[in-house]
Amino acid sequence: MMAAWIMATAIGVIVLLLQFHVKQAVAWGAAGHLITCLIAEPLLYEPAENAIAKLLPESANGNLASLCNWPDEVRWMSKYKWTRELHWVNTPDQDCKYDYNRDCHDSLGRKDVCVAGAINKFTQQLSDYTKNHTTKNQNTTEALLFLAHFVGDIHQPLHAGFRSDGGGNNVSVHWYRRKTNLHNVWDTEFVEKALKEKFNSDPTVMADSILNNITDQWASEVDSWGLCRNNKLACPDTYATEGINLACRWAYKGATPGTTLGDSYYISRFPIVERSLAKGGVRLAAILNGIFDPDAPQRSPVLLTPKGRHMNTP
Ligand SMILES: *[C@@H]1O[C@H](CO)[C@@H](O)[C@H](O)[C@H]1NC(C)=O
Ligand SMILES: *[C@@H]1O[C@H](CO)[C@@H](O)[C@H](O)[C@H]1NC(C)=O
Ligand SMILES: *[C@@H]1O[C@H](CO)[C@@H](O)[C@H](O)[C@H]1NC(C)=O
Ligand SMILES: *[C@@H]1O[C@H](CO)[C@@H](O)[C@H](O)[C@H]1NC(C)=O
Repeated sequence: MMAAWIMATAIGVIVLLLQFHVKQAVAWGAAGHLITCLIAEPLLYEPAENAIAKLLPESANGNLASLCNWPDEVRWMSKYKWTRELHWVNTPDQDCKYDYNRDCHDSLGRKDVCVAGAINKFTQQLSDYTKNHTTKNQNTTEALLFLAHFVGDIHQPLHAGFRSDGGGNNVSVHWYRRKTNLHNVWDTEFVEKALKEKFNSDPTVMADSILNNITDQWASEVDSWGLCRNNKLACPDTYATEGINLACRWAYKGATPGTTLGDSYYISRFPIVERSLAKGGVRLAAILNGIFDPDAPQRSPVLLTPKGRHMNTP
């Protein structure tokens, strides 16, 4: 009995490790998603906070951030195969401009299957649910988790990258002495290095530090981050346009295949990473506030002072 239990636990751990490994290669790493949602949570107004608490499974303990990486954990299951190509959008080789109609499709050419299409779709689903509680067989809990995740992803500059190199996945580089690829450097390496060196390996400390800058150093521009034209709740085309722009100006630049990236790349690019996380968090909060409180004025949520953390953090 005992041996079987140990065996089962060991297999479970191995499966988790494998998932972790795979996941790291493909999206803002787990830490990036956690931080994005930890920034958003204190910026939510009460209607959004309450609606989200109702939608979350009990296991989440009222804590959205703990599940913001869930879409990466399930993407390899056959049930969620349809979500695999929703994590990014690609432009043609060397094209630093994004165009929804040209670019938002999957590898088979099906339209709207990309991260921008996904943000529109899940925003719409949650908004319909809020207005009339119809769900059309859609799982509203999952819509919330997908939305929170994809708003994070679209703010990782290489999630709007060139099609020919898979958003940097096929640009092999050295990160200091280790061999990896450019996409992974932006998903994971920057955040992990900063967490370890500056934030005591604690994502909450990093999120709070970014929140501080949001209300202080960046305050004058933050108001505009959450705004969308034409009263739309979310504007993924704006986010993707910013993404490919940053990808060209900072991520791809100086990082051709075979390059070794070290201190000078890290120090010059890390502020871009922090700002991207900040924007992702602020915009996620603005979108959720707009969805769950249709009467809320269209404005960035940080006009209010962040409420501080009252929920358990993972
Ligand atoms: C109610 O939700 C459905 C989607 O489930 C949507 O098509 C419809 O327009 C919504 N009605 C209103 C009044 O918002
Ligand atoms: C919705 O999705 C969540 C997360 O996958 C799951 O736990 C829940 O059972 C689903 N709800 C329904 C009604 O299918
Ligand atoms: C990236 O490289 C892999 C393995 O060499 C290849 O199968 C894949 O098609 C490449 N992807 C892109 C987008 O070039
Ligand atoms: C906040 O701003 C300061 C001053 O520019 C900067 O040194 C620091 O890295 C920023 N912290 C975060 C987490 O963005």
